[in-house]
Amino acid sequence: MTIRWQAEAVWEAVLPLLPGFTVEVLPQIDSTNTELMRRARAGQTEPVLLVAEQQSAGRGRLGRLWAGEAGASLTFSLGLPMMPADWSGLSLAVGVSLAESLHADVRIKWPNDLWLHDRKLAGILIETAGTGAASTPRFVVVGVGINITQRPAQGLSTPPAWLQELLADVDAPQTLARVTLPLVQALRAFESQGFGAFRERFHSRDALAGRRVTLSDGLHGAAQGVGADGALLVHTATGMKQVTSSEVSVRPMGGED
Ligand code: BTN
Repeated sequence: MTIRWQAEAVWEAVLPLLPGFTVEVLPQIDSTNTELMRRARAGQTEPVLLVAEQQSAGRGRLGRLWAGEAGASLTFSLGLPMMPADWSGLSLAVGVSLAESLHADVRIKWPNDLWLHDRKLAGILIETAGTGAASTPRFVVVGVGINITQRPAQGLSTPPAWLQELLADVDAPQTLARVTLPLVQALRAFESQGFGAFRERFHSRDALAGRRVTLSDGLHGAAQGVGADGALLVHTATGMKQVTSSEVSVRPMGGED
């Protein structure tokens, strides 16, 4: 199957915001995130959008696999140097941008997923490479996988949703064209303004708001939005807990992560 990507249109739209930006579409690779991290370690840190029609070793958070067939999902990584004053809330800002570009019904499941009616529509995996010095930019790889067509629930911890449930006949190239420019704009806004520019927008799409959640450390509580730094606020029997994604995962009670 030949997939017709609108790579040039995407490149033209984004270039003014990211000088030196390139777009690359590959029929197959192990993982677009892995590839951009490899390149960054080899010194290639120019802004790039790498799209793969198929990944043989797509990766999700917490060491999980991200599986997908050509055309059935959109899988890409956007790599760019960034130097925000504060990195907290970056994955939520990315989630806000993607949700807003896709559809009014899409919700963000803290910290890295997009949900449609409590099923997983998309996942985000952000990785960075760099010196760690505050005064130099880090190379950020924003990996995104979006289910486009119906996919089987087999082997998935959360039942899947797919974009064609909301937008009949939408395909992976159209979806890429829809999300890329707003995503770059969001990353630029995050760099200059931090998570503050996204917090209220996150709250209007928060999939967990007001719901009982279970944390992977066994605590239960009611999710109450996020703090100024993007930490999930959970009202537990022992008080308000601020949950950061490095500590625990979270799922609505009675559901899967
Ligand atoms: C998750 O659900 O935990 C995150 C999934 C992220 C998947 C995308 S697909 C494109 C990019 N390359 C990868 O290997 N992973 C991300």
